[in-house]
Amino acid sequence: MKVESITDKFGRPIRDLRISVTDRCNFRCTYCMPKEIFGDDFEFMKREQLLSFEEIERIARIYATLGVKKLRITGGEPLLRRDLDELIRKLYSIEGIEDIGMTTNGLLLKKQGRKLYDAGLRRLNISLDAMDDELFGQINDRGIGTSRIIEQIRYALSLGFDIKINMVVQKGLNDHEILPMARFFKTLPVTLRFIEFMDVGNDNGWNFDKVITKKEILKMLEEEFDIEPLDPAYYGEVAKVYRHKDAKSHLGFITSVSESFCSTCTRARLSSDGKFYGCLFAVDGFDVRQLIREGISDAELTEVLTGVWNRRDDRYSDLRTEITSENRRRRNKINMSYIGG
Ligand code: GTP
Ligand code: 5AD
Ligand code: SF4
Ligand code: SF4
Repeated sequence: MKVESITDKFGRPIRDLRISVTDRCNFRCTYCMPKEIFGDDFEFMKREQLLSFEEIERIARIYATLGVKKLRITGGEPLLRRDLDELIRKLYSIEGIEDIGMTTNGLLLKKQGRKLYDAGLRRLNISLDAMDDELFGQINDRGIGTSRIIEQIRYALSLGFDIKINMVVQKGLNDHEILPMARFFKTLPVTLRFIEFMDVGNDNGWNFDKVITKKEILKMLEEEFDIEPLDPAYYGEVAKVYRHKDAKSHLGFITSVSESFCSTCTRARLSSDGKFYGCLFAVDGFDVRQLIREGISDAELTEVLTGVWNRRDDRYSDLRTEITSENRRRRNKINMSYIGG
């Protein structure tokens, strides 16, 4: 297969494709899908609007010829989509794809984990924001306690999955859980990553005062743990990772607010209804599904997708501080649950 490595306006190549397979979720995390907006009358995507597995495979195959090597399955909550193991098999059959991961809240792992592992999936990023059952139940707004997720994590570890835990930290809400989370996850062979709270979507109540930065968290951790930084595992790695000198587990930071990483952002995003987005904070998507359903050829689609990437000039996190809060509010960004983070 010939790979034509394409670049965007800032010379960034395309390496990763994040594929959302559903906009639905069984949680209602207050920072992502607040119940006031995602209530009973919210209209989620209908079956026929979603890309089929065949359509996803076709798009991913074309992106692989343009330089994509890594795929990430996201949602909403991806485990709500049926027969995901079939999709994983299809995606692994694509020449050039070296790595596939999934980002999930973990609740359905006992149901689906085995089939996914058998299909070849090895990497899971699991969201968990507190050790305290009650607090976590409040954050996910479905009353799901931490212990339920830890059970699923243990199960997934026993199957052999490589696991990262994602904790979104909000000042005044769960920052007192940083050390309890770090203590607990030090005992498991996982990477616990602290994510700076981001202003994704339009409804998540974000402001700078609610952000706890990597610097602040690191200071807390260094008082208790003996840790040292590791080199990035790959070009443009999202997290800055540290290792415990006296344990197998790692700690990481995702610093979209305090140290943006747009200059090495090689990620394209595909929504579950088949729109391409060049950035997590994008306003408009490019409708790939429509072209496919109108019968576009592979050669034509390759050319179109090349053009879309060549025109990409997103670098929202770099610009965040320069945009006034008024303009930030006015900007009609896509929802996190729609694009999968
Ligand atoms: P791996 O490094 O392959 O494990 O994946 P990842 O860390 O990129 O994926 P994950 O879905 O676990 O994302 C973790 C956090 O990083 C989420 O809060 C994402 O929204 C955030 N994130 C991932 N990619 C980007 C990005 O390109 N820009 C910004 N601002 N945040 C990102
Ligand atoms: N800021 C930072 N991370 C977020 N996530 C969801 N919303 C936000 C936000 N506002 C995280 C989820 C999940 C990943 C896909 O993104 O917790 O781990
Ligand atoms: Fe669902 Fe993840 Fe959003 Fe929580 S952060 S509501 S688990 S998609
Ligand atoms: Fe990439 Fe946009 Fe995130 Fe910057 S803000 S790293 S351009 S997704």
